[in-house]
Amino acid sequence: MTDSAAIPSVIEDRREAWLAELFDFLRIPSISTDFDRVDEVRAAADWLEAQLASAGCTETAIWETAGHPVVYGAWRGAPDAPTVLVYGHYDVQPEDPVELWSSPPFEPEIRDGKLFARGSVDDKGQLYVHAKALEAWMRATGSCPVNVVFLIEGEEEVGSPNVAGSVQEHLDELRCDAVVVSDTTMFAPGLPTLTNGLRGMAYLQIDLQGPNRDLHSGMFGGAVVNPAETLARMLAACRDENGRITIPGFYDDVREVPAHEREDWTHLPFSDDEYRASLDVDALIPSEHSTLECLWAQPTFDVNGLLSGFTGDGSKTVLPATAMAKVSMRLVADQDPERIADAFEAYMHEIVPAGVKMTITRMHGGKPWSASRDHPILQAASRALERGFGAETVFIREGGSIPLVATLEELFGVPTVMMGFGLPDENAHAPDENLDVGNFFDGIASAAYFFEELAKSKSGE
Ligand code: BES
Ligand code: ZN
Repeated sequence: MTDSAAIPSVIEDRREAWLAELFDFLRIPSISTDFDRVDEVRAAADWLEAQLASAGCTETAIWETAGHPVVYGAWRGAPDAPTVLVYGHYDVQPEDPVELWSSPPFEPEIRDGKLFARGSVDDKGQLYVHAKALEAWMRATGSCPVNVVFLIEGEEEVGSPNVAGSVQEHLDELRCDAVVVSDTTMFAPGLPTLTNGLRGMAYLQIDLQGPNRDLHSGMFGGAVVNPAETLARMLAACRDENGRITIPGFYDDVREVPAHEREDWTHLPFSDDEYRASLDVDALIPSEHSTLECLWAQPTFDVNGLLSGFTGDGSKTVLPATAMAKVSMRLVADQDPERIADAFEAYMHEIVPAGVKMTITRMHGGKPWSASRDHPILQAASRALERGFGAETVFIREGGSIPLVATLEELFGVPTVMMGFGLPDENAHAPDENLDVGNFFDGIASAAYFFEELAKSKSGE
């Protein structure tokens, strides 16, 4: 018997207990980029494995990788029903600048209906929604309308270097009829949202070495090529005054957004003026495209970090020996991360002047992903969200990247449902990251209804 009538009361009954569990998860500082935190990352994986088992998974495992482990879990008690693969990540971003947090990042706290902690929205709180959706079914009926498999990695925030390898090794366990991911946002409060596009990524580091040591800028400046100034010039050459990225070939594979999708975006509650005002900026990058299209369906070139010379208090007249920049390019269909990295490298080699030595390091990359909104599985998800939130679902794309999504789609040939329960102002990757507690519980209901809607749509009901 798979009747969802009891789901809301189960969620209500378990409210405090599930929040307490989530607090425990959020207390573990599983910062994947920090080598000093490897034990904490593993502790988060172990904690999650145990929780998946208590939520109802009858199979669980920790899969070792060359980096942080992958957590696997499965409940397969509905052999004739479809199988949903839940993908998420238990790693989090570093907490710094820690002094800007209103409460300590790894001491969760609820204020005004918002749960503050690093990882609350990205992605521990959101992935936990699906574990609790399975548990809600188990408590309500002792069963679940679909089979549920969990694939939760610990390296998403550093570009997912190893999870694809684990997936390849475990194709049989992971085979599924749909993938569901909650690692995105709702367009606005009260607007249940499905995301049908994510940008990809090419991330590189560029190092310039000038003279063999730092020099007095009075004794050497004017004759010796300055790596800091040279790097600034090279980076600036990547975009023209109209906002176009100037790397040759960069736009070759950019696919137009379907007209009906672009038209739908004009109906979303969004205003350029409010957007600018919310950021305290008086202008945006010039573009022939709308702001939403620039964020969702146009590629970017961004300098993520720059390091050179004297940056302390006061002044120092120095001609620095080295300069370094980290750059990332967000990609859209059908741009390929390798080809874009090739194009960037070729352009840098073309414009780098004599007098400096250049080293370019490829950090990580991921393919863009976009999907049709018409697939019956997305429609089932849309109905589930409407039941969970009591409002009509909107479809958006997002500018962020989740590298494994395109890989899973290639491997399994099934649609991905991106049902995000975050909000754009919840400070993912920033101080005071938080998750709306109401959305967490409506998310659990929606995820539970999705299992039911999916089972119904497959059985032709
Ligand atoms: N949850 C985000 C992805 C995201 C952000 C989706 C905003 C939608 C809107 C994810 O954890 C993330 O931050 N990914 C990285 C991936 C990168 C390291 C390849 C990102 O987008 O910077
Ligand atoms: Zn995330």
